[in-house]
Amino acid sequence: MNVLVIHGPNLNLLGTREPEIYGSTTLEQVDAAISSAAEALGMTVDIHQTAREGEIIELLHGGIGSVAGALLNPAAYSHTSRAIAEAVRAVTFPVIEIHLSNIHAREPWRRRSVTAEAAVGIVSGFGSNSYVLGLRALKGLLDG
Ligand code: DQA
Repeated sequence: MNVLVIHGPNLNLLGTREPEIYGSTTLEQVDAAISSAAEALGMTVDIHQTAREGEIIELLHGGIGSVAGALLNPAAYSHTSRAIAEAVRAVTFPVIEIHLSNIHAREPWRRRSVTAEAAVGIVSGFGSNSYVLGLRALKGLLDG
């Protein structure tokens, strides 16, 4: 069971980026936690980080036929990108939206995620553990 994981813009700076909001865990540490959780669940992960909207869309398209599901943190694109939302709707596998912070407890403009409207579900507010919880949710969904 292969899972695509996509981190959007600015998440490469985790660890030093607004640590009061996002914590001090680096993206490398987040990825290590995702990989070990995946191994424990009998899943494999293909992890990417990109600042580019089009690349997120291409990564989603590339997953068709090769991944069982995806964890997607579109970062700021969550609040603006109808193109990513349409890609999430277009792919044939389930996509779970992930946020480190609780987007509903922050600025009003963050409370709407247009991409989450296309996802099967959302995990938001648990720091790097949001990804691990998302992986477990995906496993449950796929095992039916
Ligand atoms: C984020 C929340 C977004 O609002 C923000 O733009 C990010 C990170 C999160 O993981 O909490 O870059 O997606």
